[in-house]
Amino acid sequence: MLGVLTAGGGAYASVLFLGATSPVTLNVGYRPEQPIPFSHALHAGELKMDCRYCHNSVEKSAHSTIPATQTCINCHSPKSTAGAPALSAVHPESKKLKPVHDSWRTGESIDWVRIHRLPDYVYFNHAVHIARGVSCVTCHGRVDKMDIVYQAKDQSMTWCIDCHRNPEPHLRPRDQVTNLAWTPDMSPDFDVAKHMIDNNIKPQTNCAVCHR
Ligand code: HEC
Ligand code: HEC
Ligand code: HEC
Ligand code: HEC
Ligand code: HEC
Repeated sequence: MLGVLTAGGGAYASVLFLGATSPVTLNVGYRPEQPIPFSHALHAGELKMDCRYCHNSVEKSAHSTIPATQTCINCHSPKSTAGAPALSAVHPESKKLKPVHDSWRTGESIDWVRIHRLPDYVYFNHAVHIARGVSCVTCHGRVDKMDIVYQAKDQSMTWCIDCHRNPEPHLRPRDQVTNLAWTPDMSPDFDVAKHMIDNNIKPQTNCAVCHR
């Protein structure tokens, strides 16, 4: 990869450069209006729902899926749904939930606006990071306090590499990755040096790791 970039890759490198400096990728604070005023502060914060209830692929795959309408319907079924337990109909008549109910009836998915997006030439993988004990909060901020999600970090190459060079301060016990309020004193027995050896954690900084 480095060979390609330095030798014949001038054109490719400038495509990379244009891609990487376009505003879409450096959008700290990007906070689009969503079709439904869904609040993480309410669901993940107050109601204490685990991130993985909705983002259930985050530990298993590269991408962390946005939940399907069915996941919302588990609690927000419209009143008319025959046979549904009453407890699963939270705010069945709410105007704010109309797009959820419409989506449920028509089978068309909800048009959530995507917030975080790396350029196509970068390879990223959620599962690898979660498995090593890197928390959502390190890369996305206190989502559990956000009424509307925004991009908290610039997700630049320097940002990735800074952590790959020195991951130690950013690691925690695996079972605490979705506890965004975690602090080291909550896990006095956690030995980060041992964690790194046991899991053979040596993040790489060579180009081909992220540019495949
Ligand atoms: C009840 C379901 C639910 C729970 C629980 C939940 N989320 Fe979400 N999440 C969503 C939905 C729906 C969206 C898309 C709409 C939006 O951005 O608000 C989303 C969007 C996001 C995004 C932005 C995705 C993008 O487009 O770039 C991030 C980051 C995120 N969630 C992180 C978290 C974290 C971290 C937690 C746990 C603290 C969590 N979520 C808990 C449903 C949920
Ligand atoms: C585990 C149950 C549960 C799930 C799953 C869930 N919610 Fe909720 N949601 C609630 C509860 C409980 C409230 C009401 C809190 C209150 O009124 O105090 C609520 C409130 C809301 C409200 C505010 C409604 C109003 O009229 O004030 C919206 C909008 C909403 N949820 C959207 C969603 C969306 C979209 C999803 C799917 C991504 C979702 N919820 C998944 C439990 C859930
Ligand atoms: C090491 C940093 C890092 C960690 C840790 C991390 N994310 Fe992400 N997340 C990203 C990046 C980078 C993107 C953009 C990915 C892309 O464009 O391919 C992203 C995108 C997302 C998206 C949008 C869908 C997607 O996959 O593109 C959701 C939802 C999300 N993250 C949720 C979470 C949740 C929930 C956690 C914790 C369980 C988490 N993330 C942990 C960096 C991270
Ligand atoms: C807060 C720390 C942190 C940040 C930020 C971070 N990483 Fe990582 N990354 C790690 C750790 C820890 C590993 C695991 C290394 C190991 O097990 O040896 C890893 C591993 C990887 C791997 C290796 C996957 C494999 O197949 O082996 C890729 C690819 C990767 N990261 C890409 C990225 C990209 C792209 C970004 C920025 C968008 C990023 N990382 C940001 C800590 C981080
Ligand atoms: C840990 C992951 C990671 C590694 C390792 C990495 N990159 Fe990147 N690179 C990225 C990300 C993420 C971006 C996109 C940054 C953005 O969108 O702002 C990027 C962007 C670029 C760009 C576009 C211009 C720029 O600087 O923003 C070039 C060129 C590039 N990388 C070359 C390289 C070369 C050469 C190496 C090896 C010396 C390398 N990368 C190693 C993650 C990585």
